[in-house]
Amino acid sequence: MGLTSAQLDIVDLTPRIGSEIRTDLDTLLSGRAARSIRDTLEQRGVVFFRGLDIDDEQQVAIAKTLGAIPENEGQGGIYKISLDKNVNQRAEYLKGSMFWHFDGSLQPYPNLATLLRAIKLSDTGGETEFCNTYAAYDDLPQADKDYITELRVVHSAERSQYYVRPEMSHEEIAFWQKSPTKACPMVWTHQSGRKSLLLGATADYVIGLPVEESRALLARLRDWATQPQYVYRHEWQPGDLLMWDNTGTMHRVLEYSVDSGRLMHRTILAGEEPLH
Ligand SMILES: [Fe+2]
Repeated sequence: MGLTSAQLDIVDLTPRIGSEIRTDLDTLLSGRAARSIRDTLEQRGVVFFRGLDIDDEQQVAIAKTLGAIPENEGQGGIYKISLDKNVNQRAEYLKGSMFWHFDGSLQPYPNLATLLRAIKLSDTGGETEFCNTYAAYDDLPQADKDYITELRVVHSAERSQYYVRPEMSHEEIAFWQKSPTKACPMVWTHQSGRKSLLLGATADYVIGLPVEESRALLARLRDWATQPQYVYRHEWQPGDLLMWDNTGTMHRVLEYSVDSGRLMHRTILAGEEPLH
């Protein structure tokens, strides 16, 4: 039912994106504030909770008050994000997260949201940046909105790998090309009626445009969406529980060393809106 302001104290960190939500663990676990948190998440793109001393089970329990957790996600709903191959066998693939993207661009239902909890931080780097792709779309000049409204973009796993390994061998390219590509609209019209831009490291080319125009347009829109007024940079503290609306933001992590020990525990909320 209704939520009193005493239960959630929302502190906006920039005008367009990012809020700290101050509340207590009992409120989060009870689900009393779930509707309000979901609304805040959609409006603000990124929210985080600080100083609550949450464990893995509590992280998953909180996530379950907000949405559904995919069955194949990690162990008991927790997936470990680390560049250390001993911790995560797909560490090499995770290097792609240093470039602007949203998660699940190749899936029929991209994740609704992702929760990350900081277990161990790197001494330097490792901040996570987010940009609000709703706000970036809203602010586009009308001529641009008109131009891109019907455009579709082919996304591929292969494309995102060029950021990590610019000179892939034929064998490597063949490996990544086994993953099916997916065409997505450039503008995502959500069930709410709001619209967001769909770009990111998997965005390979715009259907029907000459190659140069396609590359230039994708870069121009990424530049636009990642201007400072749309970006929030999270400076992590141990124990922070942060979540982002994966359907209305892009994110990237700033560089940190492979042997830094940086470790995040991730929980995903399954997508609720199809992307096709
Ligand atoms: Fe990601």
